[in-house]
Amino acid sequence: MDDAEQNPLDVNMEPDQDGGRQASTAEVVVNEITGTIFIQGRGLKKSLSDPTKLFFFTLGDDLLDESKRSVVPYSIWYEMFGTELLSLKVMEYVGPVSDPQTAHLSSDVLVKVAVYFLHADSEVRKSDEDDDLLQARVTPLPNVQFDGRWDQLAFETNIKEELIWIMENIFRFSRHGNEELSDRDDDNPVFLLHGPPGTGKTTLCQGFAQEISIRFNQKYHEALLIEVNTATLLSKYFSESAKQVDEVFTKVEQMCGENPDRFICLLIDEVESIAASRELGSKRGEVQDAIRATNALLTSLDRIRFHTNLVILCTSNMWDTLDSAFLNRCGFQYRVEIPSNAAKYAILRVRLQKLMRLGVITPYADLPCYRNSECEYFGTEKPGAILLNIVKLIDTNNMSGREITQLPKQAIYRYLRARDCSLDMALGFMQRLLLERRQLSIGHKRKREDEDSMSENDAASCEGA
Ligand SMILES: Nc1ncnc2c1ncn2[C@@H]1O[C@H](COP(=O)(O)OP(=O)(O)OP(=O)(O)O)[C@@H](O)[C@H]1O
Ligand SMILES: [Mg+2]
Repeated sequence: MDDAEQNPLDVNMEPDQDGGRQASTAEVVVNEITGTIFIQGRGLKKSLSDPTKLFFFTLGDDLLDESKRSVVPYSIWYEMFGTELLSLKVMEYVGPVSDPQTAHLSSDVLVKVAVYFLHADSEVRKSDEDDDLLQARVTPLPNVQFDGRWDQLAFETNIKEELIWIMENIFRFSRHGNEELSDRDDDNPVFLLHGPPGTGKTTLCQGFAQEISIRFNQKYHEALLIEVNTATLLSKYFSESAKQVDEVFTKVEQMCGENPDRFICLLIDEVESIAASRELGSKRGEVQDAIRATNALLTSLDRIRFHTNLVILCTSNMWDTLDSAFLNRCGFQYRVEIPSNAAKYAILRVRLQKLMRLGVITPYADLPCYRNSECEYFGTEKPGAILLNIVKLIDTNNMSGREITQLPKQAIYRYLRARDCSLDMALGFMQRLLLERRQLSIGHKRKREDEDSMSENDAASCEGA
């Protein structure tokens, strides 16, 4: 990025010594500050002016949303940034009352705006045999291919907020070149996300890396995501695993050292391939190769973690097979669960809204959030109420986040016979697909029970004979 691209919009209105704000041209009525609003603007490559008026911020809103163009206060944002930014999203409020439904007046909050530009997909560099960094994919961040991933993820817990705050605190206290505060011996910026398949662990890591690169773009002007494919690494270089692990880390270490202004997120997906318990392995008489790979990982982690411009993200759905020494080195461990009803609703709502934006479902219609649906629409025939019923059907099917995400499209592909697909039709298709799946699984269960009882009868008649 050249200089013109960095921080073109500096409306980071922190309180000054008198409790006011530093915004060069802003004249803002100053009330008591009750929290912080984080806004992210996806930019066109131009410089911008500062906002000067009072606004309400509602979480999740895109202040430049076409459909709300005529609505005050959106119109004001449009006036100022409509031609300069592609989107301007209110991401998060941090303060005493954290309620996604509440609107916050701009004079009551600190407004932190991060403007970013997405790297194009084509810039993704896949490592190959000729490359220095084998078995890894290097992606400049923020990248178009991860755009929107963070927003699309819905969890019961506030895991996303927690991850960001851990990073914020790491940067603040120990990893920001403040030698007095630095105590890197204790630093352990290794995150481990574990849980059942299809619950969004990999996506969360990719989204997290993208968020770090946007939120902290004033600290680090460049960021990279390096994704290590552990499964391929082992299968391709069997008997050389330890060497491969060591080489990947040596290269990453070199990249960290080369440019301290560049932030690197190292993602080790399915880490169990190279972090399997050595104790369990030797009991089962497993090959020395896997044990040596784990040793190499441990020594590499010890070596590399002193780099302040690096964070390591690992995922696994086999937590109980991981080596205890590896687990010790994971400073931040989170279990990612199968989505709750509220999370299922949120996943489907986001997916349906995306399909409406893309014109697959027409016309565009607003879907209420889970809480509003429960309070206002329960028992009615409105889309929110139908979606609530769909969520209940999913419960019985016990689907992963991955399967839920695919549900709207799969249902439309399977049943649509007309030219257009309305929201009501899409919801109907989803219900139909779930009911059919339920019938199918009941059928399978009955068949299994019949087979079991037949073999029991056979066994009994053999004994009788
Ligand atoms: N909680 C969730 N919210 C939104 N989308 C989700 C959620 N969980 C899964 N998905 C979607 O499901 C798909 C698969 O997710 P992902 O690959 O990240 O899961 P995973 O936990 O890494 O699975 P695995 O353990 O099999 O590697 C992605 O498209 C993701 O967006
Ligand atoms: Mg995964």
